[in-house]
Amino acid sequence: MKNIVILISGGGSNMAAIVKTAQREDWAARYGARVAAVISNKASAAGLVFAREQGIPTHTLDHKTFASREAFDAALAQLIAPFDLPGQPALVVLAGFMRILTPGFTGQFQGRLLNIHPSLLPAFAGLHTHQRAIEAGCQVAGVTVHQVTAELDHGPILAQAVVPVLVGDTAEVLAARVLTQEHLIYPRAIARWLQNN
Ligand code: GRF
Repeated sequence: MKNIVILISGGGSNMAAIVKTAQREDWAARYGARVAAVISNKASAAGLVFAREQGIPTHTLDHKTFASREAFDAALAQLIAPFDLPGQPALVVLAGFMRILTPGFTGQFQGRLLNIHPSLLPAFAGLHTHQRAIEAGCQVAGVTVHQVTAELDHGPILAQAVVPVLVGDTAEVLAARVLTQEHLIYPRAIARWLQNN
């Protein structure tokens, strides 16, 4: 059984969408994969409650208790290590995980580390994507699922979805429209990854 480890920092709605799709589509039978753990860098992350309710083991690793990014990432890698099975390394899924990972970490998990970013990459890497799309006068916005490399919000694109930017949109309204698409394309992109790996 291949283990999927999902990293979150907050609401965890993408994580929940992945967990629900995995249940509905029976990823265990279809792909020999299961969501094995949810890890948050914040104890207050609402997504942890949902994960626990689903019977998924959760862990909190508070980045503030580490002296450096490298030390945090090393501890994170150690937490993931037990989910690497012989011949079946874990798939690590960033779902609203608001930490920049070091090149050491991204290198170690290269090829099996996925992220979702709420813009049409390569446009608007980084934060405040919706506000920036509105200010730039974009007529469309969207979301990208990509492989994680050492460069923030770069890496091979696995899936994208486009939504319109409508007159009068605020960043919040646009974010909500994008989020509904996130919940569709992230599980789909992961399923495709599982099929091909
Ligand atoms: C999503 O918009 C995701 O693309 C971004 O952070 C948000 C997380 O939402 N990286 P959630 O925690 O999955 O609800």
